[in-house]
Amino acid sequence: MRLADKVALITGGGSGIGRASAVRFAREGAKIAVSDMNRASADETARAVEAEGGEAAVVIGDVSNSSDAERMVQAAVEAFGKLNVLVNSAGVSGRNALPPEASSEDVWDKVLDVNLKGTYLVSWFAVPEMEKTGGGSIINLASIMGLVGYPAGFDGGFNPYNPSKGGVVQFTRNLAVASAPKNVRVNCICPGFVDTNLTSMLKADDEVYRFLEERHPMGRFGKPEEIANVALYLASDESSFVTGTPLAVDGGYTAQ
Ligand SMILES: NC(=O)c1ccc[n+]([C@@H]2O[C@H](COP(=O)([O-])OP(=O)(O)OC[C@H]3O[C@@H](n4cnc5c(N)ncnc54)[C@H](O)[C@@H]3O)[C@@H](O)[C@H]2O)c1
Repeated sequence: MRLADKVALITGGGSGIGRASAVRFAREGAKIAVSDMNRASADETARAVEAEGGEAAVVIGDVSNSSDAERMVQAAVEAFGKLNVLVNSAGVSGRNALPPEASSEDVWDKVLDVNLKGTYLVSWFAVPEMEKTGGGSIINLASIMGLVGYPAGFDGGFNPYNPSKGGVVQFTRNLAVASAPKNVRVNCICPGFVDTNLTSMLKADDEVYRFLEERHPMGRFGKPEEIANVALYLASDESSFVTGTPLAVDGGYTAQ
């Protein structure tokens, strides 16, 4: 088992990439603290972990709130005695951040708060706990949209999602350099488009969906499990000399 005796906290663990990572990690022996804003979906992930023979604890909260972020880390440590791995998967896009009538400034603030500040806050509380165990691994969910611009036309270039994810890439590098002496590795995954709740509304428009599929040289969206497999590598000791890296998992999107 690749994560035997490890404890992992997964934010956004109620859905998509977070849930797939929880299940994948549990199959490799990790105990999982599932964190999400949505209790029903977090509970469902916990049941999926238990169905794999794993152990799960659920902690509900908003990653952009510092006391919630602290509580998430404490809950993992209280449930399982330590923290080895953090996956920062909680995230929103400009499309689902707030109701459509919200101002674009409010959407900007919300997307930056959840995607960038939320990643910072949970990491802030996690690093000292990892230090206590002699090290750890933080895996941030950035995006190809943190590496390249969105095709012309969408949102007129004012979409906050790309800057939020570019910020996650740079936060990852910075924290990796500072945390290397503590044996805490920090990496981020930059997925292409993945079939999850975050992208489900894109399916409403066949033409847009097909256009986006074709932007990937592999001609399709990824599956959450394909991202979870890479998160597993970064969580495990197999990546022991990998830190500060934005790892594209994108069917070739950014190779063009
Ligand atoms: N799906 C994609 O195409 C894609 C591509 C690149 C990057 N990503 C990133 O991967 C991560 C996971 O995305 P996903 O596709 O699994 O999305 P998802 O919508 O399926 O899951 C995200 C989860 O985060 C939770 N969440 C949202 N805001 C939160 C908050 N403030 N506090 C706590 N939990 C919160 C949601 O309740 C949800 O369960 C996100 O950071 C996303 O930006 C996704």
